[in-house]
Amino acid sequence: MQQNLIIKENIPLRGLNTFHIDATARYFIEVNNYEQLTELIESGFVDKNPVLLLGGGSNLLFTNNFKGIVVQIRNKGIEIFENAGNTVWVKAAAGENWHEFVTYCVEKGFGGIENLSLIPGNVGSCPIQNIGAYGVEVKDSFYSLEAVDLKTGELKIFYHSDCNFGYRESIFKSELKGKFAIWSVTFQLNLNPVVHVEYGAIKQELEAKGIENPSIKDVSEAVCSIRRSKLPDPEILGNAGSFFKNPTVDAKVAEKLRDSFPKLVSYPLPDGNEKLAAGWLIDQCGWKGFREGDAGVHQNQALVLVNHGNATGSQILTLAHRVQNSVYERFGVKLEMEVNVI
Ligand code: FAD
Ligand code: EPU
Repeated sequence: MQQNLIIKENIPLRGLNTFHIDATARYFIEVNNYEQLTELIESGFVDKNPVLLLGGGSNLLFTNNFKGIVVQIRNKGIEIFENAGNTVWVKAAAGENWHEFVTYCVEKGFGGIENLSLIPGNVGSCPIQNIGAYGVEVKDSFYSLEAVDLKTGELKIFYHSDCNFGYRESIFKSELKGKFAIWSVTFQLNLNPVVHVEYGAIKQELEAKGIENPSIKDVSEAVCSIRRSKLPDPEILGNAGSFFKNPTVDAKVAEKLRDSFPKLVSYPLPDGNEKLAAGWLIDQCGWKGFREGDAGVHQNQALVLVNHGNATGSQILTLAHRVQNSVYERFGVKLEMEVNVI
């Protein structure tokens, strides 16, 4: 059978990860349709080798050559699934680019994901860490997803309650990590959207433009403009966005920290805990703009580790550990990595 399978060997991955880390994949395959994926599973290749599913490579750090098979999911297609009242269900293939999908929805007037504009990566990855920005998370518009079981090739549907969404978390980043290839995601969007402009920076951006009643397009443009001013463009400077999660601490711990550090940046959570700004903690430890060789901490946003050119994944990881240690020594707070270390 296997006429559909083109498994390449020793493929460079530098152009396929936004950190621009030099690493190779022992085996590599691009999957464009379901038949190819099931054929790959039936061939036994994914049973015999470690598998890495790859989208846009914007949340990965390669610390070694990958000794198994990298499977890049590249299926395409957007379908308006159903329309009832003010709600529209839109299904997008995993291989669609996330920002292009957001733009498609914004142009059509489908509201719900406009605050997530310009996040790199693909649709298939968006539920994995429940991407979030500017007061919105993908779980807020998520309806369901289809995923292929890498053992059996069967397509399974996961609804919202199956996904265990949390802050930068889902079942696909924990129990089911690497077990399913997400194949499509269906979103429940709104034809009469309520815009979310509570986030200070969005408000300021809209005010500066004199926009009083923003449309979802205005919000999307404001978010793009804020992101371009704050975050390094991976095309120019290798990075994977925030390297660490913002840590959650008990309100009493936050209170105690505020006694010693009155300028502590924190946000109250509905459960009474507080989320601390990891960027502020790292910044206070003096890391902003730090560089050793080509591994560094971004000069404007201390939560973003960067590759100035030829850093290895191990050098970035060593720097990440040093940052974690210094934040722990100074504040007693443990920083958890957001990026997937491979
Ligand atoms: P990849 O990096 O390719 O993969 C990430 C993980 O998902 C890996 O474990 C991989 O094996 C797995 N995976 C990939 N595709 C599939 C699939 N189809 N099925 C199953 N598993 C799969 N994130 C935010 O939440 N908010 C932000 O504001 C944000 N800003 C960013 C800004 C910059 C400049 C950058 C570089 C990154 C940012 N990120 C942000 C992180 C990143 O964009 C997201 O995590 C994104 O969803 C990753 O998508 P990807 O396709 O690149 O995933
Ligand atoms: N700060 C500093 N110094 C720094 C960086 C930040 O003092 O070097 C302070 C800022 O002044 C601000 C606070 O920390 O008061 C928070 O900073 P920012 O608004 O830039 O957001 P963040 O918490 O660093 C989070 C997400 C981003 C998301 C933005 C916008 C996480 C881990 N990161 O960043 O997501 O785009 O908010 O919503 O939750 C990502 O996950 O990759 C990512 C980029």
